[in-house]
Amino acid sequence: MRIAVLGTGGIGGYFGGRLAASGHDVTFVARAAHLATIRERGLQVASVAGDFTVHPASATDDPTTVGTVDAVLLAVKTWQMPPVLETLPSLVGPATAVVTTQNGVEAPDQVAAVVGRGAVLPGIAKIFAFIDGPGRITHAGGPASLVFDEWEARPGRPSDRVVRLRQAVAASGAASPVPEDIWAELWSKMLMVVPFGGLGAALAATLGELREDPARRALLRDAMREVEALARARGIRLPEKVVDGTMAFVDDQPADATTSLQRDLLEGRPSELDAWTGAVVRLAADSGVDVPLHRLLLEVLRSRHPDALPD
Ligand SMILES: NC(=O)c1ccc[n+]([C@@H]2O[C@H](COP(=O)([O-])OP(=O)(O)OC[C@H]3O[C@@H](n4cnc5c(N)ncnc54)[C@H](OP(=O)(O)O)[C@@H]3O)[C@@H](O)[C@H]2O)c1
Repeated sequence: MRIAVLGTGGIGGYFGGRLAASGHDVTFVARAAHLATIRERGLQVASVAGDFTVHPASATDDPTTVGTVDAVLLAVKTWQMPPVLETLPSLVGPATAVVTTQNGVEAPDQVAAVVGRGAVLPGIAKIFAFIDGPGRITHAGGPASLVFDEWEARPGRPSDRVVRLRQAVAASGAASPVPEDIWAELWSKMLMVVPFGGLGAALAATLGELREDPARRALLRDAMREVEALARARGIRLPEKVVDGTMAFVDDQPADATTSLQRDLLEGRPSELDAWTGAVVRLAADSGVDVPLHRLLLEVLRSRHPDALPD
């Protein structure tokens, strides 16, 4: 398959790297020293599932030179999307699939606004991976799965392009399980990540410190309930006991876990606050659902980190 990876970071570098290493024609979009090093020495991936290097690796900082591809892996951070989306139409032909990987639930709509819903495969990356230097990606843990489906999937009858792409991901050594309902899975991940991210950042607390303290644990659960109420108001078919299930998942994770939102905010980097807590508040207002905890978290985090949200 011809594949373009828009953003060669933790997600793009890992999943795109696996696809390239298994023989697909992958072009990595990167920039600055990362691009230069990938061109010179290839893309090096250190992975708990086995290290590998893609060399030579096809890489560019100009997506408009790539031409149309079978699949685009959109793997920039949410706040980096606007300029990247301007280049997207040059990659998209009538059958191209654009897989979103961003946390939050708004990326599919943002991509659809540019290339139409028919091109979008809403997706979820489940992995812990990051850039640890120019040309180098580390995969530190997580299931390393890339879950995606058509916007309006027919249960049990996946489209040909979805089948081909799932087979390619699975054959590359990553996982690509078939979701029961991609929108429910996107929201279920949001229900875990956004309360954990917002409370973790506001309290400078690890997952262990949130779940062990009864008052904080209650806040975590309440914040999850707000996301649940919002999702249900928007017609998302979440599992009946989604909050209990998510708390059980929380109890199973390493105690020292933190989210990228918390790390980015506390270390003064641009963050995905707008796409996480901001999106809950924005979509709740749109749906007539009250989310007081998220409103408070947004105000606290925005006032503490004035550069955290786009203008
Ligand atoms: N990493 C994970 O473990 C993980 C897990 C689940 C979900 N996610 C989600 O996946 C998304 C991507 O996260 P990530 O961790 O992979 O981010 P990341 O490591 O920061 O990677 C993004 C990459 O895109 C590059 N980029 C951005 N704009 C570009 C442009 N215009 N031209 C060329 N390159 C560009 C960035 O380059 P610069 O460094 O130069 O900006 C960076 O190399 C996020 O929404 C995140 O929430 C991540």
